[in-house]
Amino acid sequence: MLKTNSMRPEPRPGVLKIKPYVPGKSDAPGVAKVHKLSSNESPLGPSPLAVAAYRSVAEHLEDYPDGAATALREAIGRVYGLDPDRIVCGAGSDDLLNLVARAYLADGNEAIHTTHGFLVYPIATLGAGATPVVAPEKNHTADVDAILSCLTVRTKIVFLANPNNPTGTFIPFDEVKRLHRGLPRNVLLVLDAAYAEYVRRNDYAAGIELVATSDNVVMCRTFSKIYGLAALRLGWLYGPAHAVDAINRIRGPFNVNAPAIAAGIAAIEDAAHVERARAHNERWLAWLSDEVRRLGLDVTPSVANFILIHFPWEKGRTAVEADAFLTARGLVLRQVGAYGLPHALRMSVGCEEANRAVVQALAEFLGKA
Ligand SMILES: Cc1ncc(COP(=O)(O)O)c(C=O)c1O
Repeated sequence: MLKTNSMRPEPRPGVLKIKPYVPGKSDAPGVAKVHKLSSNESPLGPSPLAVAAYRSVAEHLEDYPDGAATALREAIGRVYGLDPDRIVCGAGSDDLLNLVARAYLADGNEAIHTTHGFLVYPIATLGAGATPVVAPEKNHTADVDAILSCLTVRTKIVFLANPNNPTGTFIPFDEVKRLHRGLPRNVLLVLDAAYAEYVRRNDYAAGIELVATSDNVVMCRTFSKIYGLAALRLGWLYGPAHAVDAINRIRGPFNVNAPAIAAGIAAIEDAAHVERARAHNERWLAWLSDEVRRLGLDVTPSVANFILIHFPWEKGRTAVEADAFLTARGLVLRQVGAYGLPHALRMSVGCEEANRAVVQALAEFLGKA
């Protein structure tokens, strides 16, 4: 028998350094009516056409899905004017971010993300045996110069959420292009545009043009937010042919399920529903930001479908106490201590009733009702 010093199988060194991802709470014990505003889901839900398409697949659950998700990639290609051969679908963009990490990172490599970047980046990086490197932000916003100054010969990936979660901030497309110009050609820029559909700014772009014209940029998108299909786990990536080829080699052969493919096609083709969701968000994002600021709380300017609310440190007014107060009233927001923001709560833009209820409850919490 071969001799070994280990008493049991050991995971790769990075794996046990991972702080497990804690999703947003979804319930408020003892409260009958709950508004879940902790995971940036769509208050409008999915397109009814997507729900019908999902149901229609129930008749054929014995069949494997199309492993290449061809019809979905074609539908995405039609809507965005993209070559379907350069699209990969995944079980949520989480799946795609992890696949990118597995395809491009090895032991000893580094992947850069910003201070309050999405938590999946360090998880995917450590899981692939590499080291996450944190670039400081300015005003809760990615700072291109800070990212560039983190580059070393070991850097293989730069993850940029634009807009970022949980801050809701973005950097203009000119800045994204400046970041790209500063990267060595062997470093992959991963543009995570999970909230792109919500952004109403003419200096913003999700990155399609940059992907189309470079060899080292991929863009990830999701059906979990504006399309309201978070339960189905569906996302897509647009990239250069060589990156698509690499990712296709390691992805699960049936990583996207048939109901998700059917619902995704119907959802992306229902432009009117997407527009309703966008209009709802535009109205209530502005209203919430104004009303919460009027209560004397700082709100980071957001272009996404959530706001980051900053609370004072003083006892009786902290974020943790506000969270308890709101939860007791069925208003479930997200604590963001895991993102290094222990004095803030993140609130998804909800339906009108939920938005008004949060503002009212915050006024009571602060003694301003
Ligand atoms: C910035 C960012 N990227 C990716 C995701 C993951 O989305 P999905 O549901 O597609 O895995 C999220 C979800 O919260 C997110 O905020």
